[in-house]
Amino acid sequence: MKPIQVGLLGIGTVGSGTFNVLKRNQQEIQGRAGRGIEITMVADLDVARAQSVVGPDVKVVNDARAVIANPEIDIVIELIGGYGIAKALVLEAIAAGKHVVTANKALLAVHGTEIFAAASAKGVMVAFEAAVAGGIPIIKALREGLTANRIQWIAGIINGTTNFILSEMRDKGLDFDVVLKEAQRLGYAEADPTFDIEGVDAAHKVTLMSAIAFGIPVQFDKAYVEGITKLGAADIKYAEQLGYRIKLLGITKRTAAGIELRVHPTLVPAKRLIANVEGAMNAVMAHGDAVGTTLYYGKGAGSEPTASAVIADLVDITRLHTADAAQRVPHLAFQPDAISNTPVLAMSEVVTSYYLRLRVADEAGVLAKVTGLLAEAGISIDAVLQREADEISGEAATQTDVIILTHDCAEAKMNAALAQMQALPTVLQPITRIRKEELA
Ligand code: NDP
Ligand code: HSE
Repeated sequence: MKPIQVGLLGIGTVGSGTFNVLKRNQQEIQGRAGRGIEITMVADLDVARAQSVVGPDVKVVNDARAVIANPEIDIVIELIGGYGIAKALVLEAIAAGKHVVTANKALLAVHGTEIFAAASAKGVMVAFEAAVAGGIPIIKALREGLTANRIQWIAGIINGTTNFILSEMRDKGLDFDVVLKEAQRLGYAEADPTFDIEGVDAAHKVTLMSAIAFGIPVQFDKAYVEGITKLGAADIKYAEQLGYRIKLLGITKRTAAGIELRVHPTLVPAKRLIANVEGAMNAVMAHGDAVGTTLYYGKGAGSEPTASAVIADLVDITRLHTADAAQRVPHLAFQPDAISNTPVLAMSEVVTSYYLRLRVADEAGVLAKVTGLLAEAGISIDAVLQREADEISGEAATQTDVIILTHDCAEAKMNAALAQMQALPTVLQPITRIRKEELA
């Protein structure tokens, strides 16, 4: 049978990995797909560079629309990124009856509803395994492997750049900026690295997982997003002393009131496997009512790890494209008429526990006032740590850090208590608040 013809839009980090892995492993991949899969046309702005990657046998153009217009092309891979031209090209490819593979989590988290609806109407597939956790087949696991379960929660390290930064800062004492540059050099970081460090990229990914896990529409605009740029070295150190590591987690949970959807730095018990995921590695925990807690670990970024997921999608489409569209796995795991309108909760409604660090005057009664305010608010304390002034480098001996771990309480209640504590004259700096999850 003639190989299935693939057109590739954008041959940068992931595109070149996809081309190379597909070529290197073509026999095995064909053995699995039942048919050859060939990238026969590539579009990139830098035609000369692209041609040097793919060699003389593949047609390279600088106009992506020429790929979409080619009637020989069955599948279009979009690896340009962003919401601009990528959105137009994906919708045009769908309109032209092409199946689409994309690693573009930003595009799907924001415009997924429109794109999946267009694909369903046209009877084509939009596959996006590479969009979440790079090489880890987490979409497949959530959409198919855990299909028997009522999924309760997902928590994941789903941004390699920030995990790399946190690991290097902790292990080697390196500065934030130095490590970010290295992550960019290694090809982990997004074109705009603020998406990584401000938590936006992780929020795109957890938004997609939330939709698949709970059968709700993709709703990036409802996600709470907080990155790692305000994290201090002191908090990483104090967390360790209390038996925790700080990780940027994407969390989505089913509660009686609705769905939690949030990204923020999180204290995780150091004894949990996920707390020991280092460097650019990703890991996702998913808890289902039947299976219990499961953990998926692997490379979440980089050229060939991400290509691994892109090619898995190519194989799926090659196997399924002749099947009746109604028999295929739905884009978001649930059939369109089973998608629910369960609300995504505002952050103020989320219930979690907290790490608080207060820089206070080292005077009698200060701790009592702070804990008194928490008690009045009905917030229960789990642990308190006080660091003597001489452990605070460069600070006057009249100040001390008080670290408090709390039990669960609603975020709104914590916000009100924080405002009262901050107003105390003996609280000398803005209070640091980091959320804590036991992931038991
Ligand atoms: P790159 O920037 O390395 O590659 C993008 C490529 O697209 C570049 O070669 C660029 O050309 C080309 N391009 C830009 N505009 C056009 C256009 N209009 N027509 C044709 N080509 C164009 O990005 P990545 O490979 O890193 O990322 C691609 C996608 O994969 C993104 O959505 C990203 O979020 C996602 N992703 C990336 C991962 C990674 O580890 N890098 C992991 C998981 C997902 P030029 O350079 O000349 O501008
Ligand atoms: N910038 C992303 C990361 C790439 O660092 O994880 C993978 O999606």
